[in-house]
Amino acid sequence: MRGFNQILFGGLALYAGVAAVPAKKDSSTAAATTVTRGASTIVMKEVGGIAGNECLTFRNNGEIVDAACVNNAADRQVTPSTSASGANVLLVQRSFDAGFRPDLVGKQACVGFNGTDFKAVDCAASETQFVSLVGGELTSGTACQSGHDSAAQLTVDTTGSKCVGVTLTTVTPTAP
Ligand SMILES: *[C@@H]1O[C@H](CO)[C@@H](O)[C@H](O)[C@H]1NC(C)=O
Repeated sequence: MRGFNQILFGGLALYAGVAAVPAKKDSSTAAATTVTRGASTIVMKEVGGIAGNECLTFRNNGEIVDAACVNNAADRQVTPSTSASGANVLLVQRSFDAGFRPDLVGKQACVGFNGTDFKAVDCAASETQFVSLVGGELTSGTACQSGHDSAAQLTVDTTGSKCVGVTLTTVTPTAP
């Protein structure tokens, strides 16, 4: 490895000495192949949520519950953003660890719909049905957030006949 680095470094130095190095593509640009982050990060507060615990919060396992509105907590924050294919997505601010969500370690997480639940999923997973804000409601196709259950867990109406809204507070994103 040391030998390789020395060769590489030497090669670059030689190259730089010979002529102007052509503009190198920024590796951070190249890596941003999935979601283009939007400008505003928000906390979503469920209209008619549990009094004192109305803010949508991502659990360690990526499921969403109503909890206290700690607006500067990363697990309350999402950023309306754009997927690689141009879909509206909600980029999840918090990170996830290998103990709970090995599939999300080091990945961009988006709110997705798995047929029954809205929760954090890999933004780049091909089967992902994204959830976005439409008319102030969390929506995925015909499905919408219908409220929460007795365990404060977000509930979904797959037909979209009973939907609840969320109010939005713009926040400074907290490091995940
Ligand atoms: C969808 O997610 C919920 C919550 O994590 C889980 O209980 C359920 O089994 C999942 N359904 C499918 C089809 O993966």
